[in-house]
Amino acid sequence: MATERTFSILKPDATARNLTGAVNAVIEAAGLRIVAQRRIRMSDAQAKKFYEIHAERPFYGELVGFMTSGPVVVQVLEGENAVARYREVMGATNPAQAAEGTIRKQFAQSVGENTVHGSDSPENAALEIAQFFDDKDIVG
Ligand code: CMP
Repeated sequence: MATERTFSILKPDATARNLTGAVNAVIEAAGLRIVAQRRIRMSDAQAKKFYEIHAERPFYGELVGFMTSGPVVVQVLEGENAVARYREVMGATNPAQAAEGTIRKQFAQSVGENTVHGSDSPENAALEIAQFFDDKDIVG
């Protein structure tokens, strides 16, 4: 397995509850290295672009509204098989279905306010990373 990068967002429900450090502790304990990290306020245009793939879904407006409702922390994570590994660590999208010990089981409040986002494929990871980071800002 090769070293890989994935894109992560700690969502507004995480920053609102001061969970940045607690979530990062789970990420690091899982063997993923945080090689870039920035706290930002996502603009409406950024959130719409980021979630473009969900534009036709009934929850799109709510999702964009939530992601712009407070600060988020955007991150690049690096490690063996990082995309799949982070999805394992996050747990199911719906916290009610998330496995014990996962970030969403521990911290998420609902399917919308679910604490973290992680890329679903290496291809999307590269696109998502490029939306928020320059190569020079990623220090592996
Ligand atoms: P994320 O991994 O960021 O990618 C898409 C997001 O859409 C997902 O996490 C959920 O937070 C959100 N989502 C999925 N289903 C619903 C839903 N039924 N209502 C609100 N948000 C949803």
